[in-house]
Amino acid sequence: MSNPLTFEVPIYVLAPLAGFTDLPLRSVVKKFGADLTVSEMLSANALAHHSAKTFKMIEKSPLENPYSVQIAGADVDAIRAAVEILNTYEGIDVIDLNIGCPVPKVVAQGAGSGLLNDLDTMQALLRTIKATSTKRYTSAKMRIGFGSDNGVDIAKRIEDSGVDFLAVHGRTRAGKFKAQVDYDSIARIKAAVSIPVIANGDIDSYEKAQYVLAHTQCDGVMIGRAAVGSPWIFYQLKHGVNDVSMALKQEIIIEHYDKMIEVYGAHGAVAFRKQLHSYSKGLKQASHFRDQVNRMSDPIAMRDYIVEYFSPHFQES
Ligand SMILES: Cc1cc2nc3c(=O)[nH]c(=O)nc-3n(C[C@H](O)[C@H](O)[C@H](O)COP(=O)(O)O)c2cc1C
Repeated sequence: MSNPLTFEVPIYVLAPLAGFTDLPLRSVVKKFGADLTVSEMLSANALAHHSAKTFKMIEKSPLENPYSVQIAGADVDAIRAAVEILNTYEGIDVIDLNIGCPVPKVVAQGAGSGLLNDLDTMQALLRTIKATSTKRYTSAKMRIGFGSDNGVDIAKRIEDSGVDFLAVHGRTRAGKFKAQVDYDSIARIKAAVSIPVIANGDIDSYEKAQYVLAHTQCDGVMIGRAAVGSPWIFYQLKHGVNDVSMALKQEIIIEHYDKMIEVYGAHGAVAFRKQLHSYSKGLKQASHFRDQVNRMSDPIAMRDYIVEYFSPHFQES
């Protein structure tokens, strides 16, 4: 298979979503069309302190090839230590730095979006990753500014740090997850740098992805929230189709469920409830279905119920 990270054609990337894009979801979107998957954000400090929980979050599905691991931090020594640990893991192609997380606790430490206010530290961290990493690529995921848009300046400094490619969420930190995504700003960034740029923010359909690619001239799109509850969006993007049959949706949901049980054991059934809430949105008898699954914890009974509820026979009857 050709390497999507040469960006010969636009690539489709699953955005990191802490608490959602774990191994089971990533493995499903990968199987059905994503070109690149990214781990949930890992704290460089937690990695440097050998947190078992954080180590678990590095694990990937064999399908995830290429695979990117995202780290967050504000301290050069912690970032170096984290990268040295990642160097000991096989199967990681990209180390990505988080330059966008708006969570107050993260920003207070100067990490995530906090780096948008301190571009010297941002560059020092990126150069440290580049110099320390034995992986093929270094990337960054940025917002377009902290309080207001200075995306071009930030992106140029990222490029100047030796980063291989860049993902841009077209909101400032102040815009959180609600402000309108500024695709013009992403387009200006793309025009200003020569590394590949991946556009991100509110892309939720094949048409929207085509619009954003045309408007920004970017080298790929990254999709987060739309993939939760509709991981088949990557199938739609890959195949250029809008319609996804209920049979395919059912196959994807069951595959996701089976992966949850494989990875988390019986607890996977309970943990899958929140995904089922998203999957059942707009479907027949959704509130009854949610009530039922909220009471279920037996993995086999739950699987049978999922198979039945999402069957074309039931949904289309
Ligand atoms: C629940 C949640 C968790 C997120 N976790 C991360 C993260 O770990 N790392 C990161 O870079 N961005 C994270 N983001 C931001 C997304 O990757 C993405 O930039 C943002 O949601 C906009 O894209 P979307 O509209 O396609 O979701 C998170 C967003 C949400 C809603």
